[in-house]
Amino acid sequence: MSRVEAQPVLSIRLRVNGKDQAVRIPSYRTLLDCLRSDLGLTGSKEGCGVGVCGACTVLVDGKMISSCLYLAVMADGAEITTVEGLAADGRLHPVQQAFVDHGGFQCGICTPGQVVAAKALLDANPSPSEADIKDWMMGNLCRCTGYYQIIESIKHAAATSAAAGKPAAGGAAGRP
Ligand code: FES
Ligand code: FES
Repeated sequence: MSRVEAQPVLSIRLRVNGKDQAVRIPSYRTLLDCLRSDLGLTGSKEGCGVGVCGACTVLVDGKMISSCLYLAVMADGAEITTVEGLAADGRLHPVQQAFVDHGGFQCGICTPGQVVAAKALLDANPSPSEADIKDWMMGNLCRCTGYYQIIESIKHAAATSAAAGKPAAGGAAGRP
């Protein structure tokens, strides 16, 4: 028996996008793999797998994390928000809508993480300056568009939310 096969299987409970989930997983499984392989939530992507690119960004109890570096067992009992959980009542989240309207994306690899990170930013700071946006989003890499449209999209999402009088609820403390 290999060392990996000898790892214990653990039962954990997660609340993912408002839905209670119970899974049995090996202790070494990352939250990213748990979400994608055990729960079928393939919105979060694996870009680098080593905590550099931000493609795997999700929220754990409102805090932005890189799920490729986060063991699923560490999230036992936690509330997880993935990109699949942002739209509500048939409407895109303001960040998602702004990315569509202002060309914030070209590919499906970095975009889910960009959108979740931007949502976390607006939760923590509903009126970010351009410097705030650049600082917060520096852990989310895009290899094709450049960043101008991403920054513009986040500015527009903040303005849209402010105009609606509804800055996104919750808090986020930044990327670990
Ligand atoms: Fe997690 Fe790149 S896949 S940071
Ligand atoms: Fe995804 Fe640039 S839009 S890497």
